[in-house]
Amino acid sequence: MTVRRLAEKQPASFEFTQENRAWCDDQIAKYPLGRQASAVIPLLWKAQAQNDYWLPQKAIEKVADMLAMPYIRVLEIATFYSMFNLEPVGRHFIQLCGTTPCALRGANDIKAVLEKRIGDQRHVSADGNFAWLEVECLGACCNAPMVQINDDYFEDLTPDSINKLLDDLAAGRPVKVGSQTGRTASEPEPGKGTTLTDATLYDGSVVGAWRTRFDEARASEKVLAEKALAEKASAEKAAAAAAEKKA
Ligand code: FES
Repeated sequence: MTVRRLAEKQPASFEFTQENRAWCDDQIAKYPLGRQASAVIPLLWKAQAQNDYWLPQKAIEKVADMLAMPYIRVLEIATFYSMFNLEPVGRHFIQLCGTTPCALRGANDIKAVLEKRIGDQRHVSADGNFAWLEVECLGACCNAPMVQINDDYFEDLTPDSINKLLDDLAAGRPVKVGSQTGRTASEPEPGKGTTLTDATLYDGSVVGAWRTRFDEARASEKVLAEKALAEKASAEKAAAAAAEKKA
C-alpha cells in the first residue's frame, strides 16, 4: 500500500458552488438527525469533482465542518480510499484496471502505453493533460481491458485504440465512450454470438444435470408410492375375503 499524503501546494480556500452546496444538502437530508456523518463520502466525491478531480485540504475541512466531524476523521477517510486524489491529476485522470480479467486480456499492454506516453503513475504529464493510476476491478470485466477516464469508461482497448484515445483527448477532439470495438455494452462480438446456443446446455448433460437427477428421483418416489398403495389395497382385499369366509 502506498503512503497517501496531502499535496504540498494547497489552495488557500475551498467553497462549494451554490449548485453543489444544494446537492450536498440533499445528501445530508437523507440521514436521520445525528447521523449526518454518513454523507461524508458523497460530499468528498462532489468536492473532488468540483476541484478538477483532486481533494485539497480546505475541501476536506469544509466537508468536516458541514458534517460536524473532527477534521482528522474526514482526513482518515480521504487518505484511505484510492478513489480520492490528494494531488492534482491533470485534465484527464486515467484509472487503469489491472485485475485478473483485464490482465488476461492485455491490461499490461495498455499499461506500457501509459508509461511510455505519460510516465510513472501519480505523475501529471508535462502538458497538464494526463495522469494515470492502476486500480483494482472497476466492474466492467466483460469488456476487458478497460480504463476509466474522469467519469467515463473506455473498454475493449488495444495499444492502438488507447493511443488514439490519448491523441484525441489531448487535441480536444470528441471521443467515443464504452467499447472501442463497436459492440454494444457487453454483447458477443459480431459473428461470435454463440454463447447460449450449445445444445449440451439444455440436454441435461451440463447445466440441466441437476434437473435430470431431480426428475429421476421424483419418478422413482412415484413408483414406490404406487407400489405401496397397490400392496396395501391387496392386503385389505385379502383380509376382507378371509373375514367373509370365516363368517
Ligand atoms: S477485472 Fe478489469 S474491470 Fe473487472
